[in-house]
Amino acid sequence: MLEQIDFTTKSIREKTNNFIPEIGIILGTGLGGLVKEIIVEYVLPYESIPNFPVSTVEGHSGKLIFGSLGGKNVMAMQGRFHFYEGYDMHQITFPVRVMKALGVKTLCVSNASGGMNPKFEVGEIMIITDHINLFPTNPLIGKNINELGPRFLDMSGAYSNEYINLALEVAKENNIKVSTGVYAGLTGPCFETPAEYRYLWRTGADAVGMSTVPEVIVARHGGMNVFGISIVTDLGVEGSVVTVSHEEVQHIAKMQEPKMSLIMKELIARI
Ligand code: HPA
Repeated sequence: MLEQIDFTTKSIREKTNNFIPEIGIILGTGLGGLVKEIIVEYVLPYESIPNFPVSTVEGHSGKLIFGSLGGKNVMAMQGRFHFYEGYDMHQITFPVRVMKALGVKTLCVSNASGGMNPKFEVGEIMIITDHINLFPTNPLIGKNINELGPRFLDMSGAYSNEYINLALEVAKENNIKVSTGVYAGLTGPCFETPAEYRYLWRTGADAVGMSTVPEVIVARHGGMNVFGISIVTDLGVEGSVVTVSHEEVQHIAKMQEPKMSLIMKELIARI
């Protein structure tokens, strides 16, 4: 894996004139609009990057974008890799390893989720305070590469309190209603049954989705600080679970995307 990371990193450096990103961004379903705010310097389609998987799901276009946002050098993944697409955990998190090797110190992630917390409304913007890994596996399984991080990773405080507080401040200043909560990550691609939403809520999750957890684990393994934000696109609240579709998820995410983008941009400016 080290050779792969090294090869990919060198190839990206060559194509970006040795651009050094400080902040990595992974944009979720319907949330790619933040890219419009980036003063773009280089765009690399995933197909052009050695060892990079290619994203398949509708609504995710696969590009790495390098440029400046909030006065910082950033690299953004427009489109991520999901377990349900058939990628393994190492493929899903490979871009985060490469981000680290390129110089990234902070990872900002966004996603769409289903909300179980009865206080949530459709479109709720939830700042992620913690997660529950409900994938059947973990990206750190296998021989540990000590150069990349520790064998047994501490996951207390995985989501930086400092960033959570900064994001809350930004939201308040801009009159954006946000909440905080725990994100449960599981495989999909099915949305949950009413019994599964109930189970997730009762076991401590406020929202559920099919991403983010693997990338955050690997970011922490590499010693990055992490900020996560989720758009609750549908509700799985006990007693009032409604049907949900990918189109609806994309629609609600797109509607709320400008607010989420503003929070991320301002947060990045203040980091
Ligand atoms: N469940 C899982 N993932 C999701 C959901 C959901 O209800 N909504 C958006 N992504």
